[in-house]
Amino acid sequence: MAATVGIIGLGYVGLPLAVAFAQEGCEVLGVDVDSRKVEAIAAGESYIEDVPSEVLAKASARIHATTRYARLAKADAVLICVPTPLSPNREPDLGPLVDATRALAEVLQPDQLVVLESTTYPGTTRERVAPLLEESGLAAGRDFSLAFSPERVDPGRTDYTLRTTPKVIGGLTESCAERAEALYGVVCDTLVRVSGPEAAELAKLLENIFRSVNIALVNELAMLTDRMGIDVWEVVEAAATKPYGFMRFEPGPGMGGHCLPVDPFYLTWRAREFDVATEFIELAGKVNQQMPYHCVAKVQRALNDAGLSVKGARVSVLGVAYKPGVGDLRESPALKIIELLRDLGAHLSYHDPHVPALADLGLASRPLEQLVADSDLVLIVTAHPGVDHGLVAKRARLVVDLRGVTRGSAAANVVRL
Ligand SMILES: NC(=O)c1ccc[n+]([C@@H]2O[C@H](COP(=O)([O-])OP(=O)(O)OC[C@H]3O[C@@H](n4cnc5c(N)ncnc54)[C@H](O)[C@@H]3O)[C@@H](O)[C@H]2O)c1
Repeated sequence: MAATVGIIGLGYVGLPLAVAFAQEGCEVLGVDVDSRKVEAIAAGESYIEDVPSEVLAKASARIHATTRYARLAKADAVLICVPTPLSPNREPDLGPLVDATRALAEVLQPDQLVVLESTTYPGTTRERVAPLLEESGLAAGRDFSLAFSPERVDPGRTDYTLRTTPKVIGGLTESCAERAEALYGVVCDTLVRVSGPEAAELAKLLENIFRSVNIALVNELAMLTDRMGIDVWEVVEAAATKPYGFMRFEPGPGMGGHCLPVDPFYLTWRAREFDVATEFIELAGKVNQQMPYHCVAKVQRALNDAGLSVKGARVSVLGVAYKPGVGDLRESPALKIIELLRDLGAHLSYHDPHVPALADLGLASRPLEQLVADSDLVLIVTAHPGVDHGLVAKRARLVVDLRGVTRGSAAANVVRL
């Protein structure tokens, strides 16, 4: 018999999981505190780019979304996919996780499997989630199963899917891991069991820290090559021809999304308890945070070379989402760059096919052609697929390209990071 799967948190992680289990014939009981999401699911309307509405609509007969936890009592397994942000002073904010776990504890049943998917520091599952669930009177590893299995979804990616991306699983006990493997085997082809939740929690952080550190390395190089008059894109391209021992990372305006700028600091915080300073993480954060300032300096110089000042210049940002192909604005460096340029007196506009409006900044996406014609400078911050950057470079008065999409163009009006 197919399992009944409860999913707490129906966002970028939870909704694709809900659809995947529903497609395999499982009944999905979804819980989210956001009633708009619950209503959208009932109407078969997706709010996540990677889940087309047609796909959701087809699966929605098996996805029962609600704001109430009581229904989870009927689930065989419950996956927790709530946010794990940082507090304003950059410490782990486990508020949503604690709320969700407490609410689940009230309806927890013997023999249920609970899996935490949210990214977090090593120790969270055992030291925070287990005790809260045990307030139900049931013992973790004995009366109910508990595991950690990190989500690896990469919004916008199509070459690897939930099914084809190996899934790491760390159970509190052997039998917890076996239960989790049996569940995830329904939607994933390859399962990777590790010794316990801590190894799985840290493996996820290592993946994100690895990216953060390598992006910082190439960003630092971009700041140096700028002074040295060397083309960083050419250097990266040349190094990437080495068939072994090198992995390509691209420079850019800074790190966006809610993962890379946030997750590494979960480990930094935890490491302090062990008298260890995670210097790579801190340094990577520092370098990546400098990038929007470096990019603004490039804009300033490009305008200056054209006899213009930033004050009063019409600067248009092309692409404001944090990465290509999505409309997610979380921590997007474009927002910081817009703010910095505004502070300098520039008049800002933008075009982004995925982001119709930036309400907080009082801006709406303008048609590309109009934008290019009306601008003193076009700043390519995020290179969405489907946008003809070559044409933009040809038509615009001045272009600053922070993504290397105009490589190959030697036109005098184009400046690259
Ligand atoms: N988005 C990604 O690419 C990605 C990739 C890997 C891991 N993660 C991790 O997965 C976790 C979830 O991320 P996300 O991107 O899906 O976040 P999200 O903000 O898109 O979705 C989280 C959902 O949880 C809901 N929620 C919050 N508190 C709740 C509660 N107490 N009870 C029920 N629902 C609640 C929110 O309303 C929201 O719909 C985070 O730990 C994140 O770091 C995200």
